[in-house]
Amino acid sequence: MIKIQNLSYRRDELMILDGINWHVNTGEKWAVIGLNGSGKTTLLNMITGYLWPTRGSIDVFGHRYGECDIREIRKSIGWVSSSFSEQLPGNQKVIDIVISGKTAGMRLFEEPNPDDIRRAEDILRSFDCLDLSDKRYHQISQGEKQKVLISRALFNEPRLMILDEPCSGLDLYARESLLQYVESLDVPGLIYVTHHIEEILPSFTHVLMMKDGQILAAGKKEEVLTDEHLTEAYQVPINLTWSQNRPWVQVGAL
Ligand SMILES: Nc1ncnc2c1ncn2[C@@H]1O[C@H](COP(=O)(O)OP(=O)(O)OP(=O)(O)O)[C@@H](O)[C@H]1O
Ligand SMILES: [Mg+2]
Repeated sequence: MIKIQNLSYRRDELMILDGINWHVNTGEKWAVIGLNGSGKTTLLNMITGYLWPTRGSIDVFGHRYGECDIREIRKSIGWVSSSFSEQLPGNQKVIDIVISGKTAGMRLFEEPNPDDIRRAEDILRSFDCLDLSDKRYHQISQGEKQKVLISRALFNEPRLMILDEPCSGLDLYARESLLQYVESLDVPGLIYVTHHIEEILPSFTHVLMMKDGQILAAGKKEEVLTDEHLTEAYQVPINLTWSQNRPWVQVGAL
């Protein structure tokens, strides 16, 4: 699904990503973790083709970036990030935002056709959000916004879903309810960025741990999520335990 080889990204004198090699295969669900500024969002911006590597190569769905039409690839990637949410015009109706996922645009420029409306309603219904359809985006809560953005990202039945900190700003109930939907998502590939280890759900198979623009560890989640790796990544003593198939951390003194 994704093959990244020897990727580096330099901005001015700063090495933001350095020597990244990462493969994501069909059927894998990856969590991506690491301190603020470790390069997670930059890496996602490369996979979605909004940033170009200084060195190295990126293949997505078997197509090499630089030799294919990235706009076509993007139609098969569902992408949810808070920066996107901030740019959306808030006076739009929720149903129109979901339908705008069809073209991956910020707003609808044409009257939606009945099939598109039906599809958007079906997706919203599956998130228990059908009653939000006619509300304006700026009127709904943070948790509801996240569900609407995920609904929008699902409109084109993406092969790859990328969620960049989808639970930030949610209360415990809203977070667990959103996680339940993430757990039930039926997509061939998922990348989920988080600062909260316990959001690594039972269905997630792999973890990518970033530090200072490099990969600190990558692989099966049970192998990557060790006290040693986490302590090195976060630079605080960390003790990990598993409960209900999810990892939980206890943090020691700095
Ligand atoms: N447009 C930019 N110009 C200069 N530096 C940038 C730019 N975008 C990101 N950076 C730098 O690149 C590094 C990685 O940023 P990135 O946003 O990828 O981190 P992140 O792991 O997503 O962090 P967070 O957890 O805070 O979201 C940071 O040091 C950041 O300051
Ligand atoms: Mg980020």
